[in-house]
Amino acid sequence: MRVGILKEMLKNETRVAMLPEDIKTFLDKKITFNVESNAGKKAFINDDNYKSEGINILNNIYDQSDLIIKINPPSLEEIEQMEKNTILISLLSSFTNHEIIKKLKSQNITSLGLDLIPRTTYAQSMDVLSSQSTVSGYCAVLNAACHIGKFFPMLMTPAGTIKPASVLVIGAGVAGLQAIATASRLGAKVEAFDVRPAAREQVESLGAKFLYMDLDDSAESDKGYAVEMNEEFIRKEMELLHNTSKKVDAIITTALIFGKPAPILIKDYMVSDMKPGSCIIDLAAENGGNCELTQPNKVIEHNNVFIDGTLNLPAQLPYDSSKMFSKNVSKLLNDIINDDLEINFDNDILKECLVTHNGQITHERTKMIIEGDQ
Ligand code: NAI
Repeated sequence: MRVGILKEMLKNETRVAMLPEDIKTFLDKKITFNVESNAGKKAFINDDNYKSEGINILNNIYDQSDLIIKINPPSLEEIEQMEKNTILISLLSSFTNHEIIKKLKSQNITSLGLDLIPRTTYAQSMDVLSSQSTVSGYCAVLNAACHIGKFFPMLMTPAGTIKPASVLVIGAGVAGLQAIATASRLGAKVEAFDVRPAAREQVESLGAKFLYMDLDDSAESDKGYAVEMNEEFIRKEMELLHNTSKKVDAIITTALIFGKPAPILIKDYMVSDMKPGSCIIDLAAENGGNCELTQPNKVIEHNNVFIDGTLNLPAQLPYDSSKMFSKNVSKLLNDIINDDLEINFDNDILKECLVTHNGQITHERTKMIIEGDQ
């Protein structure tokens, strides 16, 4: 089997899908790896780092690959260059990237969406959404610390005593919990809220305060995701968040509903009531944002409050985010490649994230959404 690692073409992307240390483990199994020249450069891994491990560097990997691995969903131009029957592993965002999925189907590419890896304990080590959310949560806090013009920790100095900053984290999933941990480590006072009752204990175990509201077990689906809350719940939640947001220096919002636009939880009047110099880091910006004023990939100012909708925060930490992504992908490859060095299409993880195969859309929900769109 020949595996190709593509250089990411998206503007501002700095990550690479696989690192030499992980590729090395497959070379012993007689799997050939070709990496596109300069694929790791922005993550501080140069071609020589790959070559010194016996990995080939090529200018064009498309006609040398049975399996192509990359991070971001491919562009139509990238798919155009793939040979028929190539297998692709990458994020696909298949519910929204209709043209891409139709193109993969028509070009007979077998595609596996890394964003569809099941959220089971077994698959946790393959879950790139989790690993990259961890990076996002960490970077969000560092970005907030740069916006607010205040220290995060309490400081007692000859020049006076500085009070700790206060931070509100909305959504205590993977990114939110990492944001809570990072803000606490920097010495801030942290409060948090999530609709899933299980999140309360996790927030408290990190030493943060959980905002009180009656929660119901039905807020969590059997796949571990939050379900969409009704209007009455969201109205009460916004009241709670409004009161708290008046007092804090930074809000980090991470609330997402799988496969749907992010819920709007911060309205313009709530931003207007925030302290001058405070900030909102909207990690849901990619899915429309949790703040109604958020503009994707822009930092704007509203009544002296910064609203930061920067996308792809993992690209701010390219080495470690690539390292985590690479580890996730190598665990997945180990699971789905059989002893004959072929992809095992009976593998349970693969079955859940197979999006196109044999000229068909094989992922049921994706198929329903795209065929409904025709
Ligand atoms: P996510 O990225 O889909 O959503 C982020 C957070 O937003 C979630 O905690 C969700 O409950 C929350 N949220 C949604 N609507 C909200 C609202 N109106 N107000 C406040 N918060 C709202 O979720 P994420 O971070 O991917 O993980 C969710 C859960 O799944 C976590 O408990 C995590 O531990 C679990 N998980 C399990 C995995 C596994 O077992 N392999 C892998 C990843 C996550």
